[in-house]
Amino acid sequence: MPLEIIILAAGKGTRMKSALPKVLHPLAGKPLIQHVLARARTLDAGRVSIVYGHGGEAVRDAVGDDSLRWVEQREQLGTGHAVRVGLPEGDPDDTVLIMYGDVPLIGADTLAGLAAAAAGCLAVLTIELDDPARYGRILRDDAGEIGGIVEAGDASDEQLRIREINTGFMAAPRALLADWLARLSDDNSQGEYYLTDVVSMAVADGVPVRGVTANDALEVRGINSRAELAAMEREVQRRIADSLMASGMSLADPARLDVRGALSAGIDGHVDVNVVFEGDVVLGDRVRIGPGCVIRDTQIADDVSVHAHCVIEGARIGPGCSVGPFARVRAGTVLDVGARLGNFVETKEAKVGAGSKINHLSYVGDCVIGRDANIGAGVITCNYDGADKHRTVIGDGAFIGSDCQLVAPVTVGDHATVGAGTTLTRDAPAGQLTVGRSPQRSVRGWRRPTKKPG
Ligand code: UD1
Ligand code: CA
Repeated sequence: MPLEIIILAAGKGTRMKSALPKVLHPLAGKPLIQHVLARARTLDAGRVSIVYGHGGEAVRDAVGDDSLRWVEQREQLGTGHAVRVGLPEGDPDDTVLIMYGDVPLIGADTLAGLAAAAAGCLAVLTIELDDPARYGRILRDDAGEIGGIVEAGDASDEQLRIREINTGFMAAPRALLADWLARLSDDNSQGEYYLTDVVSMAVADGVPVRGVTANDALEVRGINSRAELAAMEREVQRRIADSLMASGMSLADPARLDVRGALSAGIDGHVDVNVVFEGDVVLGDRVRIGPGCVIRDTQIADDVSVHAHCVIEGARIGPGCSVGPFARVRAGTVLDVGARLGNFVETKEAKVGAGSKINHLSYVGDCVIGRDANIGAGVITCNYDGADKHRTVIGDGAFIGSDCQLVAPVTVGDHATVGAGTTLTRDAPAGQLTVGRSPQRSVRGWRRPTKKPG
């Protein structure tokens, strides 16, 4: 049956105390609304509408999906009003599914079950909570049938003891829902049009109300404050850590890992504490990541060791390489088999051939290095002349002595040696020693200046 999805996201999110709309705050590296949309997309809906509030253009721009239908709710007059504003014309028999922009972990199977339960009736997603807090309470009659929902602010003491709550998610045929929405009133403690009132209307109309039970409390948990967001972040991270361990990766401490994106990993890897993965990261088998690393949008092949405190972004690291500690590997870095980058080395747009080493204190940018080359301590590719970037090419087996500057564009031939301290401004021929430093001299009888007395 065709499905119409409406996502409510017009609430002000006052308790976030933020200039950023609540649904744009990130969870596991992705805005809340993106999590919700990802779940909505699993359902193959004919149309997805998002009801947003004033200032919500930021949400629209951030989501940037033209296939969505955006509806502004100028005044936040309640959840029932929001659905009324957001419900488009369409086939009266379509199922309309109502979701929440601030409930990011709702399960795809739960949504599908709720939508399926709404054929010819009103389906309400509920759950029993040990602490039902300020949620709306589900009222059931003696036969156990749902008779209505009472908001916490409108509930009696006896009703407040009910532990089955309204998650907010509902589904119903369009024609029935539209009819109920048109008849809502705002005569209640908050002076709002409550969506929840459609339940008692359905009962009065003789339309069955079906309760569907959520899998767990986490999937229906909404975010209202930064503290709730942080608590959910930990829960999500714990699940990610558990699934990584279940698929064969060791973690020094599952509570000290953060994955903000998609991480896929082979087996027998080890990740030390306080490592952050961002974007799309792929790790091969037996990869070891030292403590305190940040790794973003990078592929790391089998048997690589990344030592402590490296920042790696947009790189491809070949099998058996060693990186760090304290390396900064920037976009466009490609390391071939067994290459080594040591401490305080920065690379950018650098192709490093198999077995080549850049072990200490270097900047290598816009550079292609052949196999088995050795780049000494403190070598700098001077790739930028203030206007343009230029390339440095270093051949197979080349040896660049310590503290050289390679002023690009420049080429060092295969098996060439560049003497320590050289500022290379012209190509260094293959197989030769090139050295460009002033001759050393020693001055006999020279004395250091001394302070005059008085
Ligand atoms: C609502 C339910 C309550 C349920 C709870 C679950 C009603 C009347 N109450 O209460 O039974 O237990 O959710 O979390 O429905 N929104 C709009 N426009 C508005 C008002 C709200 O788009 O005018 C959106 C908010 O952005 C939010 C959602 O609707 O995503 C829920 O609104 P909120 O005010 O948080 O509802 P609750 O009072 O928590
Ligand atoms: Ca409210």
